[in-house]
Amino acid sequence: MENINGNKRTKYCGEPRIADIGNEIAVCGWVQRRRDLGHLIFIDLRDREGILQLAFDENTKKDIFDAASTVRSEYVLYAKGILRERSSKNAELPTGDVELEVSTLNILAKAETPPFEIVENSDVNDTLRLKYRYLDLRRPDMQRYIALRHRAVKVARDYFDENGFLEIETPMLTKSTPEGARDYLVPSRVHPGKFYALPQSPQQYKQLLMLSGFDRYMQIVRCFRDEDLRADRQPEFTQIDLEMSFVDVEDIIAMNDGFLKRLFKEVIDVDVKTPIRRMTWREAMDRFGSDKPDLRFGLELCDISDLVKNSEFKVFSGPVAAGGSVRMIYIPDGTALSRKQIDALGEFVKTYGAKGLAWAKLTDDGGISSSFSKNLTDEENAAILDRAGAKPGGLLFIVADEKDDVVFASLGALRCECAKRLGLIADGIYEFVWITEFPLFEYSEEEGRFVAKHHPFTSAMDEDIDMLDTDKANCRAKAYDIVLNGTELGGGSIRINTPEIQERMFRALGFTDEDAAARFGHLINAFKYGAPPHGGLAYGLDRLVMHLAGLSSIRDVIAFPKVQNASELMTSCPDVVDDAQLKELGIMLAP
Ligand code: AMO
Repeated sequence: MENINGNKRTKYCGEPRIADIGNEIAVCGWVQRRRDLGHLIFIDLRDREGILQLAFDENTKKDIFDAASTVRSEYVLYAKGILRERSSKNAELPTGDVELEVSTLNILAKAETPPFEIVENSDVNDTLRLKYRYLDLRRPDMQRYIALRHRAVKVARDYFDENGFLEIETPMLTKSTPEGARDYLVPSRVHPGKFYALPQSPQQYKQLLMLSGFDRYMQIVRCFRDEDLRADRQPEFTQIDLEMSFVDVEDIIAMNDGFLKRLFKEVIDVDVKTPIRRMTWREAMDRFGSDKPDLRFGLELCDISDLVKNSEFKVFSGPVAAGGSVRMIYIPDGTALSRKQIDALGEFVKTYGAKGLAWAKLTDDGGISSSFSKNLTDEENAAILDRAGAKPGGLLFIVADEKDDVVFASLGALRCECAKRLGLIADGIYEFVWITEFPLFEYSEEEGRFVAKHHPFTSAMDEDIDMLDTDKANCRAKAYDIVLNGTELGGGSIRINTPEIQERMFRALGFTDEDAAARFGHLINAFKYGAPPHGGLAYGLDRLVMHLAGLSSIRDVIAFPKVQNASELMTSCPDVVDDAQLKELGIMLAP
């Protein structure tokens, strides 16, 4: 075994081409595989840029040839020699026309047989991949995703720098302000019984930086939220976080249209059409049943409450009378869904709280097969089919519920599920949309009160400001989300910038003045010293990169991610700690 001993690499394995033939080249990397043909040995050497074939034959010095014959997969090598043309070319490799005729070979490290083969698109199970993440990351696709992430971060820093933003770090040990997700807590040794919280986002700090006069701030920042994991959620994740002073919604959206255009062009050569389209939250809910609508396909929702509100059929008229609604989606080519699949979709919507899924299928001979038609009058049936624009072969689904939320959630999810099953979503399409005019509040059944939909620092729309006290349910916010293909990439708002309104907001959220002062006193106080009008936005970097890489889980764009139960399989954390450590922190575990 040798160390690098002054031997200098002159190229990455992925670099040599025909033009380099005849040159002396030195490469370093890991052995992808060795093929031993007796008098000939080929080694595929891999590094982050690609693979190069090393060749050993009758002209190779005996000690080198012998060393090559001992090499196994994942050994680490230094190889130097003259580049020559390959006799049998490999069109699949960028270096497939050339090979290195090796004259110096150093084995820099041996390797045990890895638990899985290091190849592109491996179908190894996730647990094994994550336990040996350092090997998983050697795979070419993972190397590409991590490099792409770097490029995205670089473009973000460049773009915001060119637009006058300063990158400023904010603390990781902060004050717990329970609103939103659960905090990760860090015990203080110096202050027994007291805790820091890891930041869920730098929200308050970035607002205070505006108050300090920095005018434009950005940060690539780690955030922590103790919430249930999903494909697009991790307990620690990264935001591209920004804030601007003396701006309104339009300025922030325009700045970010520019960013997204630049990012997608530079990283994956995709042209984003700007200005990116906008849709109010109300319209998004009514048409797509979701505040993060996937606009790559139609299947829009349609309200039929007015058509059935007087029906004898209580399953439809009951919910309307109770303040809910009846809505449908229509699928022009519904023949692709079998009865069995329709039943399965009925179960699917139940997971969103729907009591059932009514359906009707128009047969080619003009007949109708349906779960509900016999309960309605001919006129009612005809009116529904007419509104759907139903034609033979068409299929319509109806959900009725006393709660609009349930109708939207179930039909919103159903339209995506149907689009997936029917293959309506084409690859390579990027449908961006800004969702604006979000509600300022949402009612939390769990807490029995209105909570902030975005966060408690978000400003109401000017025309709705008095609804803070009188009509919380309908009060709209100067808040916006940027959505891509049905994923929320980022969100932000114009903030409250006077102590009076901020205090009013806290009261509206049910905080006593003492409570608000204890938790947010620093902010309310600060606002007394001249806070500029300001607002901002944060992107989920992981989600952005996931889309840039064309993936469906953020796990693959994070070097060392956590699994479903928030543990990290490679280092086995979280883990128990020594009693001594606990004692020092004044912590006693409950039995
Ligand atoms: P918000 O809570 O909407 O806003 O978060 C901004 C964006 O961060 C991403 N994100 C996540 N990504 C991965 N895992 C998670 N657990 C996770 N949670 C959120 C999403 C989301 O759109 N301070 C405000 C921003 C502002 O108002 O300026 C904030 O944090 O992509």
